[in-house]
Amino acid sequence: MLLISNVQGASAEERTRLGVALAEIQLLAVDVDKRGQGLATRLLRSCEVALSLRGCQYLLVKMNRDQSVVDWYAARGFQVLDDGQPFALRFEGRVVVFKDEPDEFRVGVKALTRGGY
Ligand SMILES: CC(C)(COP(=O)(O)OP(=O)(O)OC[C@H]1O[C@@H](n2cnc3c(N)ncnc32)[C@H](O)[C@@H]1OP(=O)(O)O)[C@@H](O)C(=O)NCCC(=O)NCCS
Repeated sequence: MLLISNVQGASAEERTRLGVALAEIQLLAVDVDKRGQGLATRLLRSCEVALSLRGCQYLLVKMNRDQSVVDWYAARGFQVLDDGQPFALRFEGRVVVFKDEPDEFRVGVKALTRGGY
């Protein structure tokens, strides 16, 4: 909801529908001793498929700034935005723009494949 609140030029009704079109990962973490086994990749993939089948078009994430985490999301199809960089979303036949407030996180965005994989 934090990111949806930053979509510019959307009415209250559109924001409600955007709540279906956009999903946000707030935290994805794996126990230190279980990392590197593909668990997070499989979990992310399962979420993407389930969300896509429910009509979700974009998956957003606020990630910490560790380069390994940025690289991890980039390798899985996310565009990692620069601080203050606006992002244009195609929604209901038009373009809406969101721009996050600068904070300690970086934003990643991924367009999901329509109707599943
Ligand atoms: C980022 C994170 C979720 C990845 O989980 P994971 O289950 O180890 O990831 P996977 O096994 O699916 O993927 C492993 C890949 O991530 C890389 N990687 C990045 N950070 C890693 C870490 N700390 N430990 C192991 N592998 C890591 C590996 O090099 C590997 O790269 P490859 O696909 O090119 O081989 C996990 O490192 C983590 O919990 N980090 C701390 C929490 C965090 O910062 N989450 C992101 C904010 S939303």
